[in-house]
Amino acid sequence: MYKLVIRPLLFLFPPEFIHNISFIMIKIICMVPFMTSILRIYFSKNYKVLNKKIFNLNFKNSIGLAAGFDKNAILIKELSLFGFSHIEIGTITPKPQDGNKKPRLFRLYSEKSLINRMGFNNDGVEIISKRLENLNVDCIIGANIGKNKDTSNDDAWKDYLFCFKKLFHLVDYFVINVSSPNTPELRKLQNKNLLFDLLNKLQKENKKYQIRKPILLKISPDNSQNEIDDIITVVEKLKIDGIIATNTSIDKSILPNTKDYEEGGISGKSLHKKSTDIIKYISKKTKNKLTIIGVGGIYDHKTMIDKFNAGASLVQIYTGWIYEGPGLIKKMNKIMVNELSKN
Ligand SMILES: Cc1cc2nc3c(=O)[nH]c(=O)nc-3n(C[C@H](O)[C@H](O)[C@H](O)COP(=O)(O)O)c2cc1C
Repeated sequence: MYKLVIRPLLFLFPPEFIHNISFIMIKIICMVPFMTSILRIYFSKNYKVLNKKIFNLNFKNSIGLAAGFDKNAILIKELSLFGFSHIEIGTITPKPQDGNKKPRLFRLYSEKSLINRMGFNNDGVEIISKRLENLNVDCIIGANIGKNKDTSNDDAWKDYLFCFKKLFHLVDYFVINVSSPNTPELRKLQNKNLLFDLLNKLQKENKKYQIRKPILLKISPDNSQNEIDDIITVVEKLKIDGIIATNTSIDKSILPNTKDYEEGGISGKSLHKKSTDIIKYISKKTKNKLTIIGVGGIYDHKTMIDKFNAGASLVQIYTGWIYEGPGLIKKMNKIMVNELSKN
């Protein structure tokens, strides 16, 4: 139904317009009496065999919604009905910002991929934190935090710390995003010294609380092995809880031909191998001791299993969900249950 009727209709319109319209449609649909219960029963079955305890948090399954989909925490309740074990909101910055000029999101239909240069468009931490107050959902909420465009890299830690403190009591885990290609110079925060300084300040703050929050680092797929080695050294030294691998890539060679592609970060099927290779490398290098959340190009059960085989403990999805439709999480979880029951 989704691929035959709904997707062809939706894909007639520009992607960001459809993204925003879908939010409104889902909100309206969920206002219909009993609709949330119907959606929950249909899409969101809880299978005990899929439950996982990681970072002392209880994930009902291994699949989460990646950052960037619900940047402003507008639709958490409704999105949780589609079976995700966790939803990562953001990237959130201290001040609201509009992001880059539109159009800034593009479909590569035949590749089941997207190119985006959104640029951290978000409502800012004050407004978003208000939306999170008194939120009651049966899924884990992560906050992906970043810096404002006009904050220099030397001062970036202040932005991250500000968001961290504001959101501390409202979310279950944090993701430090130093890997978006669409905020100038942001990815330089992955360099050893800057990264150490940033994560050290956040860990120090984290340790002030009686129960600290898991902190994960989201990295780029475009790092060299030396750069990844440096990242691992910092992460291990500061006892960061895990790595999210990966964000989008600006490496156009992962796309099939030499067409004149739009500028921005590539996500979806074309990213799958590159991001899975990064997981494999980190997993081997850390002797499987570091928790990795695998994201990049998952669009079916097989591409998810590739991430687990590479060393991921959990996975996240964004682009694949757009292409495959709302039933994808249910479908992948069901196949997992069947496979587990065979063993
Ligand atoms: C339109 C769009 C916006 C995104 N925004 C963010 C963001 O704000 N912060 C972030 O960490 N990742 C962001 N991402 C990256 C995704 O979280 C994910 O890492 C990436 O898309 C790879 O996963 P996928 O292939 O399943 O889409 C965005 C991705 C897309 C397509």
